[in-house]
Formats: sequence, C-alpha cells, structure tokens
Amino acid sequence: MKHELIEKNLGLMIPLIIVAISFGFLVEVVPLFFTKEVTTPVTGLKPLTALEIEGRDIYIREGCNVCHTQMIRPFRAETERYGHYSVAGESVYEHPFLWGSKRTGPDLARVGGRYSDAWHRAHLYDPRDVVPESNMPAFPWLFTAKINTAYTAKKLEALRLVGVPYTDADIAGAVEQVEGKYEIEALVAYLQQLGTVISSKR
Ligand code: HEC
Repeated sequence: MKHELIEKNLGLMIPLIIVAISFGFLVEVVPLFFTKEVTTPVTGLKPLTALEIEGRDIYIREGCNVCHTQMIRPFRAETERYGHYSVAGESVYEHPFLWGSKRTGPDLARVGGRYSDAWHRAHLYDPRDVVPESNMPAFPWLFTAKINTAYTAKKLEALRLVGVPYTDADIAGAVEQVEGKYEIEALVAYLQQLGTVISSKR
C-alpha cells in the first residue's frame, strides 16, 4: 500500500506532514500577498507624521492597545457604533498593526475627530473627569514628560525600509517637528488622525 510506504519512511513523512499542516496557511494567507485590495493603500492614505509616530509609540508603551482594538468588523452592531468597518488598505503603513483582540474599552479605529483635543487631554489626565463611570487608568505623566527625540529620525528610516514612503525631507525634519513637545501632544495628534481617511460618519 502506498500509505505504508509513507509511514515507514521518515524522510517522506516529515515533508508531507509539513505540507498537510501548512495547507491552511497556503490557502488562506499566501494569496493575500498577491491581492491588490490588501496590499494597496486606500486613496488618500499618508504616512504618519513624526509627531504622530511618537504618539503611536507612546500608545504602545502605555498599553492602550491592550484595552482598545483598532478593528471595526463588518457587522451592523459595530458599524452603527463606530463607523465604516476597517479595510486592509488603511493598515498598509502600520508596522506593527494594532488591530488588537480585546475590548476593555471601545474600539478606536475611527476615534479621530470624534472628540476635541481638549476632551482627549482631560480624558487622559483623568478619565473620570469626563466619563464618571470610566475604569480607564489615568495617564498624568504624559503632561510633564517631553518627547524623547533620540530615535525619532531612525524610526522613520526603519519604517521606510519596510515600505512606508517617507521622503528624505520627512526624515531630516523629523526631530524639529517633535523637539520640545510634551508626550500628550504626540498622543493626541496620533488619536486625532485614527481612521480619518475613510469617513467616520456614524
Ligand atoms: C485598562 C484598560 C484601558 C487602558 C489601558 C486604556 N483604556 Fe481607554 N478606555 C477604557 C475604557 C473602559 C473606556 C470607556 C470609558 C471612558 O470613556 O473612559 C475607554 C475609553 C477611551 C476613549 C474614548 C473612546 C470613545 O469612543 O468614547 C479613548 C479615546 C481612549 N480610551 C484612549 C486611550 C488611550 C490613548 C490609552 C493609552 C494611553 C487608553 N485609552 C488606555 C479602558 C482602557
């Protein structure tokens, strides 16, 4: 029997097991690399500015992405609450992406423009000042810490290396853009652009 031949031959069985268990990957994931819809940026998508990149890194450092997803699923209950569902073309410049998997707080994929800068500042200083029942932590230190500019230009360079279209001028002007600013300014700038390329009308 042919099957017996495989069972008695490790050199044949190992590669065949690998083929069998990578079948899902081959069928589901590999075609995505060649699907235009997934690899092309949506119209109007721009790389984040140096200030927004620093804000994004603060967002990651503070663990915002642990409580907040950035992924609106294409279900009515979600689109009515958060706006247009997330599309892959919005995330092509995201390294790493922050889609997340757990919602302790609301999804933030389209929070940009929903509140004023002043609201965000008050909320981040102490969420209970604006949402009395909130159990989100307060982040008061963002108001006294200046942005660390040591790696700002290098961050843009690294992103360019993986395909984000930063120009030499973007990189040369990066430090100047964030120099002397507080971390809260970077974080709010980052939040205010989230999801704004696609209309966030609810
Ligand atoms: C322990 C979980 C937790 C963490 C960590 C957390 N949040 Fe929240 N967040 C919440 C909860 C719960 C709410 C809903 C109550 C409220 O609005 O305060 C919320 C609400 C929000 C809202 C309002 C969203 C809306 O549509 O009304 C924003 C914006 C936000 N968080 C930003 C952040 C940022 C930025 C960070 C990181 C600096 C962060 N959150 C960290 C739990 C968290």
